[in-house]
Amino acid sequence: MQHFFVTIIALAVCCFSSLGNTSSAENSSIGLKISKRYLNIPVSQGSERAKMTLSVNGKLEREFVIRLASDKPDYWVFYDMGDWKGKTLKITYEGKPDDLKRIYQADERAGEDGFYKENTRPQVHFTQIVGWNNDPNGLLWHNGEYHLFFQHNPYEREWENMHWGHAVSKDLIHWTELGEALYPDENGTVFSGSAVTDNNNTAGFGKNAMVAIYTGASSKQVQCLAYSTDNGRSWSKYSGNPVIDSREKWNSVDTRDPKVFWYAPNSEWVMALCERDGQSIYTSKDLKEWKYESHVSGFWECPDLFELPVDGDLNNKKWVLYGASGTYMIGSFDGKKFIPEGGKYYYCGGTIYAAQTYTDVPDGRRIQIGWDKINHPSLPVNGCMTIPTELSLRTTKDGIRLFSQPIRELETLELPGGEWKDLSAEEANKALKEYAGVDVARIQFNIQLFLATSAGFSYQGQNLVDYDMVSNRVNGTFYSPEDMTSMDLTVDMIVDKYAVDIFIDGGAYAHYMQRDPKNADGYQFWGNNIMVKSLRITPLKSIWE
Ligand code: FRU
Repeated sequence: MQHFFVTIIALAVCCFSSLGNTSSAENSSIGLKISKRYLNIPVSQGSERAKMTLSVNGKLEREFVIRLASDKPDYWVFYDMGDWKGKTLKITYEGKPDDLKRIYQADERAGEDGFYKENTRPQVHFTQIVGWNNDPNGLLWHNGEYHLFFQHNPYEREWENMHWGHAVSKDLIHWTELGEALYPDENGTVFSGSAVTDNNNTAGFGKNAMVAIYTGASSKQVQCLAYSTDNGRSWSKYSGNPVIDSREKWNSVDTRDPKVFWYAPNSEWVMALCERDGQSIYTSKDLKEWKYESHVSGFWECPDLFELPVDGDLNNKKWVLYGASGTYMIGSFDGKKFIPEGGKYYYCGGTIYAAQTYTDVPDGRRIQIGWDKINHPSLPVNGCMTIPTELSLRTTKDGIRLFSQPIRELETLELPGGEWKDLSAEEANKALKEYAGVDVARIQFNIQLFLATSAGFSYQGQNLVDYDMVSNRVNGTFYSPEDMTSMDLTVDMIVDKYAVDIFIDGGAYAHYMQRDPKNADGYQFWGNNIMVKSLRITPLKSIWE
């Protein structure tokens, strides 16, 4: 690869005399004729962020901030120049001029042979190849594929330069990353939002067009549209953007994260939008003109609003409204106004945030993916997506509550493992010994506490489940089992490289956490005289194979 680098420098020096003769605060630039697909760019977290621009045949195309490495890079990021082949690229940088020298073009992304095989790469959770992710965006089933867009900084493992990254899957388990779908523009960086299929061409972008509704974020936050007529492979921004600018109405910069769906009874689109202190409802016939309808205070960021049957009864449905933290209300919705019936509850905790549910899942399931705030030691990646879950409403002793459980498709990753019944903790720990090195696994068990007031389960010296029956806490969160006097706890847990998703008692509470190995100990139950009534462990296949 080194010779491509030399080629660029030669081009740079002959085409743009500005290289190397400007001071560090000013623009320095290099130029090249694009003959390869990727621009490989070295990054060091120790460098200051500075502005970089990419201009093609004289036209400014991209602008972002990046930390170019001055010597040995911490990692490489890349820009896909597939659409620009044969053209002339000018790269300007406001940081140290010399740092531009290591950038090179190639048909491979730097280090791509090792992608997904890195030691610390999650093997069953989705991660982008490189960069930072936060919220899942635009979760939509469209034309045979599940789309997963996400808040992405392609140029660094920290939050900045928000784009919509993009991946697709046929089964919600195996993903193919496609590269950036939406880039920042004159409305700002691309914050969170949703996507719909416009079956009736209400917006005029084309029958069955995919339409993304997102927040353009600059000194204000406005709602914008982009559309695709080729299954999300290429995107155009709507020329009439923004479609909502509500900053003045709310006297707040916090107006963002539109979640849009088709409300059939009124034949119109509904948008739930976070505005200042809660979630607003807007309606539209064409996705372009929006009418404000109502507002529910008490939520922050990333709304979602959907209807679910209670206990599977299609004649008894309720609506759920939530915010980024996962706290939710249950109520009724008439297409204009959400009316809460009861209190505010939670169904999950730990490292999950900003979860969104899929639109148009063919079999009607309400499937959710959240941002899992996990740091992966030594990966050029920060964050991952939670294992997709199916949401349901169930009647409990406390009333109707939201439950979440891993989608059934996860079972396709299960490899032969072990299964036992009625063991003491010592016997169970002995049985689990041979799995000590299996750090990507699904583990399901039911424990019963007899003499113990607290008990749990650990791996590599870290508590993954910590059930304190006296103060009624699971992993620090208040939890009261359905049968309050039972001393049972049922757990379904997915352990991955650095991310763990834990579902308690059939999804009554889900806890997400980062692995933090302290020693080489295997899987272990702890607690005084506990009984392991059932235990199952299955190693999981990698989704990247
Ligand atoms: C939630 C959030 C959203 C916003 C996005 C920006 O994590 O703050 O409200 O759109 O992240 O990346």
